[in-house]
Amino acid sequence: MEQEHLTPEKYESLLQKLDQEENLSWAEIVAIITTPCPGLDQKLFSLADRKREKYVGEEIHLRGIIEFSNYCRKNCLYCGLRRDNSTLPRYRMKPAEIIEVAQKIVDLGIPTVVLQSGEDLAYPTDLLAEIVFQVKKIGAAVTLSIGERDREDYLSLYQAGADRFLLKQETFDRNLFGQIHSDDNYDFRLACQKILQEIGFQTGSGNMVGLPEQKAKALALDIKKFQEWNFDMIGIGPFIPHPKTPLGKHQPDSYQQLILTLKVLALTRILTKNSHLPATTALGVLSAKGRETALCCGANVIMPDFTPIKYQTSYNIYPGKSSFEEGEYRLAQARAMIKRLGRKETNHPGHSLKRHPHLNPLPRRERKF
Ligand code: 5AD
Ligand code: SF4
Repeated sequence: MEQEHLTPEKYESLLQKLDQEENLSWAEIVAIITTPCPGLDQKLFSLADRKREKYVGEEIHLRGIIEFSNYCRKNCLYCGLRRDNSTLPRYRMKPAEIIEVAQKIVDLGIPTVVLQSGEDLAYPTDLLAEIVFQVKKIGAAVTLSIGERDREDYLSLYQAGADRFLLKQETFDRNLFGQIHSDDNYDFRLACQKILQEIGFQTGSGNMVGLPEQKAKALALDIKKFQEWNFDMIGIGPFIPHPKTPLGKHQPDSYQQLILTLKVLALTRILTKNSHLPATTALGVLSAKGRETALCCGANVIMPDFTPIKYQTSYNIYPGKSSFEEGEYRLAQARAMIKRLGRKETNHPGHSLKRHPHLNPLPRRERKF
C-alpha cells in the first residue's frame, strides 16, 4: 500500500499501546494496516482474541437470516442485486412464508431473526411492521436490514417491536462512497443512521475490505468511525467481485484480502471493545476457514442463512454466496464450529452490551394481517 512500512520494533510498540490503551490514532492504524508482517499480524489477532474474551466473553450469538426479497431500487456498483442486473430472477416472499421460516428459526433455538432484503418498496412499512410484530410474537428478537427509509417508517417499525437495524456505510471514505454508489448520498446514509440511533434501535454499520481504489487510509477511517459512532454491531467483510456488475473485473489477491480483512476486524474489536462483530458469510466465501478464523480474531456472532433453498441462488449478492443448503445444515455447521473452538452458544437474545440490555417490548395492541 501507499505508506512506508513500520519496523518490527515500531509495530511491536504499537501492539503494546493497543493492549494498554485499547486505542490508536488514525495514522497509527494506517501504519499497522500498511505493514505486512505475518508474525506480528498473528500477535495482533491474538490480542484481539483476548480483548474479545475480556469484553464479550466466550459466548457466540446466532442470528438466523431470512433474505425475504431480492428486488432492489438501488444500483450499487458492487452488488449483484443492483436494479440493472436484469439477468437475476427476482422473488418476494409472502408474509406467511417469512413467518413460517421465522418460527422454524425460533424452534431450532436461535433467539434472533434478521429480516434482510434489497431496498424493496413493494413491502410498505405497514406490512413490514405487521411482519415484525408477528415475528416478535413468536418470541424472537428482530433485526431489520432493509436499507434507507423515512423517519416515520423507522419509527413505526420500532413501535412494532423491531430491536435492531443494520445499515452499512460500506466505506466512510466520502470519495470512494461516491464512486461505488450511483444513487446514494453519504450524508443521507449517516443521517438515517442517526435517526435509527435516536429512535432507540441497536444499530449496525459495517464496511467492505478490498474495494477498488480503497487505500489503508480509508480502512483506518472506517475503524475510527466505528469507534466514534459507538455502533452496537459492525459487519466487516471482503469485497467479492460479481461479474454482472460494473466492478466485476476487479481482481483482488484473495490471500492478502483475507489478512487485510482480519486486521480490520481485529483492530475494530480492540477499539470498539464490546460491539457485536459477526464472522461474515463473505469471509467464509473468500476462504474455507474464514469464518472460524474470524471468530479467533475478535468476532463473536454467526448468522446462518435460513432463506428457503428455492430462493437462495437468486440472492446472489456476490459469487459463491449461495450453497443450496438448508438452514438446519448451516446451523449444524455453526454449532460444530462453536464446539471446535471451545466457545459457548447463547440462549438469550444477545442484545447490545453497550446499553442496558432491554428487549424492545411488544406493543399492547394486537395486530392481524
Ligand atoms: N462483495 C461483498 N459484499 C457485498 N455486499 C454487496 N455486494 C458485495 C460484494 N460484491 C454486501 C454489502 C451490502 C450487503 C447487501 O452485502 O456490504 O451491505
Ligand atoms: Fe441494493 Fe443493498 Fe445491493 Fe445496494 S447493496 S444494490 S442497496 S441490495
